[in-house]
Amino acid sequence: MNIDIMSSFKEVSCDRIRKRNIVVIDVLRATSTIVTALFNKASCVIPVEHIEDAWEIYNKELENETILGGERDAIIIEGFHFGNSPLSYTEEKIKGKKIVLTTTNGTRAIKACNNGKALYIASFLNVSAIVNQLIEEGEDLAIVCSGTKGEYSMDDSLCAGMIISLINESQNIVTTDLGWTIKKLYEAYKENLHAALKNCSHYKRLKENDAGDDADYCLQIDIYDIIPVYEDGCISLVKEK
Ligand code: MLT
Repeated sequence: MNIDIMSSFKEVSCDRIRKRNIVVIDVLRATSTIVTALFNKASCVIPVEHIEDAWEIYNKELENETILGGERDAIIIEGFHFGNSPLSYTEEKIKGKKIVLTTTNGTRAIKACNNGKALYIASFLNVSAIVNQLIEEGEDLAIVCSGTKGEYSMDDSLCAGMIISLINESQNIVTTDLGWTIKKLYEAYKENLHAALKNCSHYKRLKENDAGDDADYCLQIDIYDIIPVYEDGCISLVKEK
């Protein structure tokens, strides 16, 4: 499998994603939140880039069926029901509801990827389910790390490195220098991801903003066996065969 890797949403270009499956990762926290919300039976997640777009969609939907979620600079947006803490998207609060989500980096990365093949949403929480799907489909792959404020972010790279490492366990791969580097980074730290992340700027910001529990939650591996896919503006789960 040929695997390209982009270290932030700013690197996404049509040429690099065309004819490939795409995986978008924002470990801290957007894709971890999306995975959690869908596991907890949200009917779908609608990612949008701008706060105004979120309000526009919300105002057209039935009020008690839709939830506005999102953050800017890791803080909940004024007037929204939820921020971007995966821990707040409990089954009790979101079952059967549509979530309109806008985040600083993660939802921008998803919206930037508009001409690939299938687009999957990955995090540590569902990484093996995603890897199995990618192996089964066998397409070339573009991994898009959302990054933080347009810059490289280690949390996403570790998850991308894990995906590359797991795919390489079953087949030969061709990847870029960055791909090989983050594969090695993941393999060096796989027994203790916290040790790798303690200097990561976004991890530290979450700790400072009383969101340390989120950071710890998002580093759990394979607690959910689900495959979220983005199609026609919505993220929902690939149905079991
Ligand atoms: C983002 O999409 O920028 C992040 O998920 C930010 C956050 O931690 O809420």
